[in-house]
Amino acid sequence: MNVENLIIEAEKLLEENLQDSVLRVLKKLPEDKKEKLAQEILDLDFEQLKRLYKETQETPEILEKKLDHMNYVDKYKLSPEKTNQYTQLGEDIIKNGNYAVVTMAGGQGTRLGHKGPKGTFKIDVEPEPKYLFQILAENLEEANKKYGIVIPWYIMTSTENDKETEEFFKKHNYFGYPQNSVKFFTQGNLPLLFTNGSLVLDKDYNIKIAADGNGCIYKSMKKAGILDEMKKNNIKWVFIGAVDNALLNMVDPILIGLAIDEKHEIASKSIPKNSPKERVGVFCKANGVPSVIEYSELPEEMAEMRDEDGELLYGEAHIMCNLYTLEALEKIAEIDLPYHVANKKTDYMNEDGEYIEVTEPNAYKFEAFIFDAFNYFDDMSILRGRREEDFAPVKNKEGNDSPETARKLYNDYHSKK
Ligand code: UD1
Repeated sequence: MNVENLIIEAEKLLEENLQDSVLRVLKKLPEDKKEKLAQEILDLDFEQLKRLYKETQETPEILEKKLDHMNYVDKYKLSPEKTNQYTQLGEDIIKNGNYAVVTMAGGQGTRLGHKGPKGTFKIDVEPEPKYLFQILAENLEEANKKYGIVIPWYIMTSTENDKETEEFFKKHNYFGYPQNSVKFFTQGNLPLLFTNGSLVLDKDYNIKIAADGNGCIYKSMKKAGILDEMKKNNIKWVFIGAVDNALLNMVDPILIGLAIDEKHEIASKSIPKNSPKERVGVFCKANGVPSVIEYSELPEEMAEMRDEDGELLYGEAHIMCNLYTLEALEKIAEIDLPYHVANKKTDYMNEDGEYIEVTEPNAYKFEAFIFDAFNYFDDMSILRGRREEDFAPVKNKEGNDSPETARKLYNDYHSKK
């Protein structure tokens, strides 16, 4: 398409989709900038944008569902026979090379005040400070040594941080991990929308976009050919975990063994919430299927509810320690997961060419959540672990879930090993 037609088409699309503000900006722009913006407009999926905007007008449907407590198995209350049986089942999978690990590293360390990919954040642990990526690499290397194999390691980045992440690994020589067993793939983006549904422009008159949430990992893995590659390499079980947990146990044979024994295609590690206010998602059954309600969507009165033993009714925390059969991942990759809406502060270029810096939320950001995939299974296995062995999140600069709390948990755990 020549430039003239490109611009005509873009203007038509904006008009049809009631994007008057961007249309006025496009008309006013100098030629070189006009072409770039027009191309971005043609690349947008306006039908999807309509669906996204519609979601902002609806209440989170989870609260309309019948919610029930989710059963779990406590790792430390298993009989010695069960522990052995699960360990054996899981170790067979690992030793046979049927196991792969995926790290979600699309997020930036913004809440930590860190500029750059979150995995490049360094924690001041003993005996020497370590990057989050380094901690994960060491965790996998330990398993490789124990089982005499090399576990394939896949890392999901975002368009914002893919180059920086790969360069970081190269610079640090992959922290000793066999380089050809580490593969990167990138997640997608979605446009931000002002609260009136209008697209947002950045300083350079680009359509403002943001990462599409960790729930898009399934489709991103499929698109990048990773699910096919895993199939070819005889991978049967896949672990997906976060980048920001300094105690994440990515290779727990008991989790695999439990899922196999219970004949479930998905499994997850949990820990009990430390208070009703802890900012973690919680497991439950919603309309009879496994679900997680995110902390941002759990009403306070529900967060406070307790059972007859005094335990929080919605107190089994999702710690982003998830396991799937490869078939389950293939199935999920075909599903369009819902998007969740977050109100964001976003600076923008207005129609008069002024860059506006805002102090209050003015736009919607759309994200798919990884755990929404659980709803598509009749049941799943939940293995309750322990905070001091499984969960040292690094989320905030100070206070709860900060480098300081993670450092302490990490040091305590490693000094006892
Ligand atoms: C997340 C979970 C929450 C859980 C908590 C445990 C979701 C939606 N929520 O919350 O249920 O209790 O972790 O710590 O998952 N990421 C991407 N791409 C994205 C967004 C996130 O790769 O577009 C990655 C991050 O790099 C990180 C992980 O997903 O590894 C968690 O993301 P984050 O936004 O920090 O989630 P939380 O709000 O802490």
